[in-house]
Amino acid sequence: MKKRSIGLAAIFMALMVLLCACGSAGGEQSASSGTSSSGSSSSETASSATTQTTTASEGSTEMSNSKVLVAYFSATGTTKQLAGTIAEVTGGDLYEIVAAEPYTDADLDYTDDSSRTTIEQNDSSSRPAISGSIGNFDEYDVVFVGYPIWWYDAPHIMFTFAESYDFSGKTVIPFCTSGGSDIGTSGSNIAACAGTGTWLNGARMSGSASTSEVSAWVTSLGI
Ligand SMILES: Cc1cc2nc3c(=O)[nH]c(=O)nc-3n(C[C@H](O)[C@H](O)[C@H](O)COP(=O)(O)O)c2cc1C
Repeated sequence: MKKRSIGLAAIFMALMVLLCACGSAGGEQSASSGTSSSGSSSSETASSATTQTTTASEGSTEMSNSKVLVAYFSATGTTKQLAGTIAEVTGGDLYEIVAAEPYTDADLDYTDDSSRTTIEQNDSSSRPAISGSIGNFDEYDVVFVGYPIWWYDAPHIMFTFAESYDFSGKTVIPFCTSGGSDIGTSGSNIAACAGTGTWLNGARMSGSASTSEVSAWVTSLGI
């Protein structure tokens, strides 16, 4: 895992200030549609995962024959808002990945070298525990996996999530929100933890992305 420095924090903070000044930050919102699933735990080991390049196409997206799950983690509500829009557009079920130990404001302080998130993101072996699990995960054909970018990567709780389920036979699409960073390698890092499933490249979007914007993106996936 990369070692973070005060210098990196300064660069990141400057980026965030710049972005805020440009008025592009997302807000805390609630998701709108879909059903949450919870139940007994399901945990399998994996054999192989493939990563597939996604390019926008003119083809239409028909998901009527696919059962869709939109699973997301959101600390401050931005990704939750986007997940709700994706569930609305796809007709998918919503599932919130909830940390067994909720993240406090102090935990989320990226300017603090000793905050919980700084420590977790600096430790490649950290796997924050999840409260509850998805009892009917096997039923889904397509899984959207959402999260905020933390230190240019996925929160390590997403690695916990990926290692908790068998994605064999499923198409998985990562999506994220951020203060400006792109999705980078965060999706493929989660895919590596999962070890199974066909993982598309995914995308970084605004938490307040419109229904038409999300719909166009989903169509471009060609699934
Ligand atoms: C610990 C931490 C680290 C972050 N690291 C980044 C980063 O590297 N790049 C970035 O653009 N935004 C970063 N952000 C901002 C979040 O990605 C952004 O606010 C996101 O939309 C929050 O989503 P949420 O409300 O669903 O938690 C970070 C936020 C936190 C709390």
